[in-house]
Amino acid sequence: MSVQAIAWSPSGAVHIIDQRALPEAQIERDLESGEAVADAIRTLQVRGAPLIGIAAAMGLVAGTRELRGAPRDAFLARIDQVARLLGATRPTAVNLRWALARMVRAAAQTPETWGASAIWERLQAEATAIWEEDRAMCRRIGEAGLPLVPTGTKVLTHCNAGALATGGIGTALAPIYLAHDAGRQVDVFVDETRPVLQGARLTAWELWRAGIPCTVIADGAAGSLMRQARVDLVIVGADRIAANGDFANKIGTYSLAVLARHHGVPFYCAAPSSTIDAALADGDGIPIEERGPDELKTFAGRAVAPPAVTALNPAFDITPARYVTGFLTDRGLEHPPFTDGVRP
Ligand code: MRU
Repeated sequence: MSVQAIAWSPSGAVHIIDQRALPEAQIERDLESGEAVADAIRTLQVRGAPLIGIAAAMGLVAGTRELRGAPRDAFLARIDQVARLLGATRPTAVNLRWALARMVRAAAQTPETWGASAIWERLQAEATAIWEEDRAMCRRIGEAGLPLVPTGTKVLTHCNAGALATGGIGTALAPIYLAHDAGRQVDVFVDETRPVLQGARLTAWELWRAGIPCTVIADGAAGSLMRQARVDLVIVGADRIAANGDFANKIGTYSLAVLARHHGVPFYCAAPSSTIDAALADGDGIPIEERGPDELKTFAGRAVAPPAVTALNPAFDITPARYVTGFLTDRGLEHPPFTDGVRP
């Protein structure tokens, strides 16, 4: 059983695992307001493209709950306000904007006669649908990737594109979960994924928890392992895929793709269709989040670089489509161009 990263709490709050504390502690929180959910997304308590879309949709519900007695227009204005707050938290993953646009549209399209309380219930149903659809899409991604993972496969992955990043069994990890469930022997090399260590802290934790053999490696070790023919396959997730197949994912993905091509290792990108931004012609239009220098200059509260030195910390990079063997989506194994993706 994979871990469940998000849920409704009985009080209607957004229940999350605070991913900053993993793997040392499994701390769970109830987020009661739009501001609390925005803060959780910004500070990586919840992260991963599909999960931040789901969390934002649920946060819009939590953040408008108190206004259920308001006049319709005031309620719709509050929805816009909370959606803007949530949408400003992280720029790269299109799932965030996509989910919020879908929520705002669902509210705006309710009959004029509906009051705030009925609209709020409509929002709650829409957020639950976004979550449930993501869970189903993860499974279909896993089914699309399952033929790539016969028994004995050694897979390398980067960052965390697993259950902790989605509403279901993940994207890049979905074929691995299904292969394991089918009784196949799969070994996973997990890039530690500096600077925030989503690989070492999160991917290794959820695979270990599921009983799937995995080995954490330093990011710089991937090329050497490929040269020694110890990697059969690379599968990574995505934060946004442009129409031509260029895609953004965690910093370091591009280097992996180039290494995989050099060594003849198949390189797949796994993502739900909510990650496709067909309005963007290519990867040059994808906004790349730049995070603070302290993520690089400090480690577990200790300085690991001279405090006075500058640090450059882009959280994502763009992998050109030509390096991608194929895209595993909820529609199957696909190749660009993508013409019918999501328009936020
Ligand atoms: O900064 P993060 O942890 O949100 O980055 C996450 C990634 O880059 C994932 O690979 C991507 O969102 C896909 S998650 C299914």
